Amino acid sequence: MMKLIYSNVMQDIVGENGLTDNDFKGINTQKIQDMILNRTSPELAFLDLPEQDITAIKEIGKYAGEFENFILLGIGGSALGPRSILEALSPFHNYHKQPKVFIYDNVDPATLKNILDTADLSKSLINVISKSGSTAETAASFMVLWQKLKDLSLPPQRHMVITTDPEKGNLRKIVREYNLKSLPIHPGVVGRYSVLSPVGLLLAETAGIDSNELLRGAMYIGQRCLSAGLRENPALLFSCSLYLLEKLKKRNITVMLPYSDRLKCLSEWFCQLWAESLGKEQKGLVPYPSVGTTDQHSQLQSWMEGPENYVVVFISVEDYGTDIEIPHVFGDIEGLSYLSGHSLSELIRIEQEATEIALAKNGKPNLTISLPRIDEYHLGQLFHFFSIATAMTGFLYGVNPFNQPGVEEGKDLTYGMLGKVGYEPKKEEFLNYRKTKGKYVIEA
Ligand code: PA5
Repeated sequence: MMKLIYSNVMQDIVGENGLTDNDFKGINTQKIQDMILNRTSPELAFLDLPEQDITAIKEIGKYAGEFENFILLGIGGSALGPRSILEALSPFHNYHKQPKVFIYDNVDPATLKNILDTADLSKSLINVISKSGSTAETAASFMVLWQKLKDLSLPPQRHMVITTDPEKGNLRKIVREYNLKSLPIHPGVVGRYSVLSPVGLLLAETAGIDSNELLRGAMYIGQRCLSAGLRENPALLFSCSLYLLEKLKKRNITVMLPYSDRLKCLSEWFCQLWAESLGKEQKGLVPYPSVGTTDQHSQLQSWMEGPENYVVVFISVEDYGTDIEIPHVFGDIEGLSYLSGHSLSELIRIEQEATEIALAKNGKPNLTISLPRIDEYHLGQLFHFFSIATAMTGFLYGVNPFNQPGVEEGKDLTYGMLGKVGYEPKKEEFLNYRKTKGKYVIEA
C-alpha cells in the first residue's frame, strides 16, 4: 500500500519550522470532509470515476489498437493525464509498441509538422480531447487534421475519436453532424480532474495498460480518503500539512519530487492540478515540478540554502521492478570503487532518503509518499489521492478548486486579435499594448 510519511513536517522532528498537534487541531477537518462527502460542488463528480462503466472505452481501445499510430490532440488536463499514464506505465513506448503515440498539446507548428512527417495519417487514429469543445489550441489542430484527412480522402468516421462533453460544445455538435466515434466526459468532471475518465483511459487501453487496475487503485484510496479521520486519512493530512505550513510558516511553494523518470510527467500533471485549482484570489500554493535524483544537481542547492518558502513532497519507490548492479571495475580508484557491488535501485533509494534527511536536519519540512511499485494499481491511487487532496486544499483556502478565472484574459485578447465576433475591443487593447511595448527596448 501507498504510505504518506509526515514525520518531517512535525515540530518534534524538524524543529521550529514544523507543525504541532495543536496546529492541526486548529483546522475544522470535519467541515472539509463534509464538503467532499455532501458533494457541495457538482465538479466533485470525479470522485465517482473509479466506478464508471468502461465497456465503450475498451471497445474503442481495441479498435485503436489496429492502427499504427495514435495521435492525441488536447491541452492542459486533456493531455497531461494521458501523457502521465503512458510515461509511467509504458516507458519508451514508441520504441517497443504499437500504435505509436504522439501527443500534440501545443500549437507549435514545428511539432505538428514533425508528427505529420512521422505518422502516416492513413494508418493513424486521431483522438481529439476537449471537454469544452472550444479550446483554441485543440480546435486549431483538430481543424488542421480534419482538412488533412479530407485532402487524403480519409474518412474522419474511421480516423477520429472525439472525447468531449456528452451534450454540449462544438465538438459534440460535429460528432452528431458527421456521425463520428466519440466518448463522453461526465459533465461534472473538470479537465485537470479527468485523468481517470475516457480522457486518460482510452490511451491506456490503446497502449495495453489495464484501466481496470488504475480504477481499482483509485477506488481503494478513495475509500481511505473519504471515510477516515485526519490521522488515518492521507489526503486530508497531506492537504492540512501543506496548508498549515503556508499559513503558519510562510512556505507557499510545493515541490513535487518523484524519484523516478517514469513519474516525471506525473509531477507536471500534479503541478497543473495544484496551480489551476489553488492559485486564485491572491491565495494558494505554487507548485514546482521536479524529478530525483536529477534535480539534486539542479534545484537542491536552492532548497537547502535559498529562500525559506519550499515544502518538498518526495515520491519514493520501494521496488523499481528491475535492477542493475554496479560492476566491480576500477577497483584501484577509491573514488569509484565504493559504488561497486551496490545496485542502481539501492543508489536512487539511498539518495532519496539522504536528501530527505539533509532537508529535515536543516529544518526544512518535507513529506514523503512511499509507493510500493509503479504499476496500474498504484498509479491509479496516486491520481485519485492527489485529486482528492487538491479539492480538499481548495476548500481549506476557501477558493473554488474547479474553475480557472485567471486564464480568461489572455484567451479573450487572443480571440480579439483572431477576429472572433464579440471580442473587437480586445483587439484594440492588444494593438495599443504593442505601441507601449516598443517604448523601452534595447536592440542587441
Ligand atoms: O483543468 C482544466 O479545466 C483545463 O486545464 C483544461 O483541461 C484545458 O484548458 C483544456 O480544456 P478542454 O478540455 O475544454 O479543451
